[in-house]
Amino acid sequence: MKEQLSSRFMVYLVALSSAVGLGNLWKFPTLTGENGGAAFVFIYILSTFIVGIPLLICEFTMGRSTKSDVSTVFTKLRAHKAWNIVSWISILANFLILVFYTVIVGWVYTYLLKAIKGQLSNPSPEALDATFSSMTNSYGSFIAQAFVIIVVGFILYKGIAKGIEAALRILSPIFLVLLMIVFFNSIRLDGFGEAMNFLFKFDLSAITPAVIVSALGLAFFKLSIGSAAMITYGSYFTKDTDIPKTAVTVAFADVVVSLLAGMALFPVVFTFGLQPTQGAGLLFNTVPLAFANLPGGNIFTIAFFALAAIIGTTATVALLQVQYAVICEKVSGSKLFKVALLGGILLGISFLTMFPFSVFGNITFAGEVLFDFVDTVSSDYLLPLAGLFIAIFVGWIMKHTIIHDELGNNKIIRAWLFTVRYIVPIIVVLVFLNGIGIIKF
Ligand code: PHE
Repeated sequence: MKEQLSSRFMVYLVALSSAVGLGNLWKFPTLTGENGGAAFVFIYILSTFIVGIPLLICEFTMGRSTKSDVSTVFTKLRAHKAWNIVSWISILANFLILVFYTVIVGWVYTYLLKAIKGQLSNPSPEALDATFSSMTNSYGSFIAQAFVIIVVGFILYKGIAKGIEAALRILSPIFLVLLMIVFFNSIRLDGFGEAMNFLFKFDLSAITPAVIVSALGLAFFKLSIGSAAMITYGSYFTKDTDIPKTAVTVAFADVVVSLLAGMALFPVVFTFGLQPTQGAGLLFNTVPLAFANLPGGNIFTIAFFALAAIIGTTATVALLQVQYAVICEKVSGSKLFKVALLGGILLGISFLTMFPFSVFGNITFAGEVLFDFVDTVSSDYLLPLAGLFIAIFVGWIMKHTIIHDELGNNKIIRAWLFTVRYIVPIIVVLVFLNGIGIIKF
């Protein structure tokens, strides 16, 4: 019998544990800064609602109706063998995300340790910048990543229900409260007004093809769509889980967390004269400054990185369990062996590619080092590609009896199906063609 989640609240939490992660705290601010702010934010939100939610409903439905994960979902839906290619695209995207995501979770663990040791209290912008670059350039970041993989491997080894349910129930509300504290603290900063303009006041001319591709990619990455994680989590849903409602709630909460993170961090950027375009270090260079002026500020810095570490870890669990399902299909052996094998492969590939000291760490593709290249290819191309095929599959191929059995048949469901059949594919294809310069709009 397949494991099922114990309550409706848990369904939300588990889906959120895959969606909310360092995508909100790290990727959203980084990309927003690099892409000039409001126009990017606007397209990201639009993509979430028009493309993200319909696809999330697709993935949940595929998961629950088959009670299976990505490796067998198409077979169980009696699809032609060729559809398994879509599974493989998802699995590849998922793996590539893991390769860099675990590095960033490692950075968060490292900053948590630094905060505990008091090394981040009373910092200056210059000192923080130096701390960040020396960390990313050191072997310590690899060790931290290895530690992350061990922690996540352990959670996986223990099983989803026992491993994450208990922790999430307590920690999610604490995380939200803490994010609100950073936000309210930032309101008092001089740069708050400028940050709000940066995030929300846009002119249409700022919407470029590159901004659109990147914002759509973020919407996929944020909701974990195209990476098969939500198919697996959908398979744990019970018959009384309201899938559309769950999808809307998860997407909405996820956007709110991203915006809160943006509104908490960008005031610090503008108050202290940092560069919004600074890239990967933005989260790490702002949080300690945000709290520096508060009494007992270091406690908040510790708490913030502790919670960032937790949500980064749970999102990694969502990723890794997809790979675990694949390994279980292909390799026999004990659970421990499989988890260790997976962790070993992941670490090995990261070691060769992701760090400045790696053998291939400084090779560039399309002007990006492998770290950025892998991030861009997975989020901006592979996830949307898998999403496109999933929309086509659910919209045109999957039996409508299954769909209506899972979701009912009312006006909303019919509107959703229309969106999945026509709107999602057209948007994704247009964004691709526009992004690679074949058409211009
Ligand atoms: N959605 C997660 C985040 O934003 C990352 C993720 C992507 C998790 C794909 C699972 C699958 O941090």
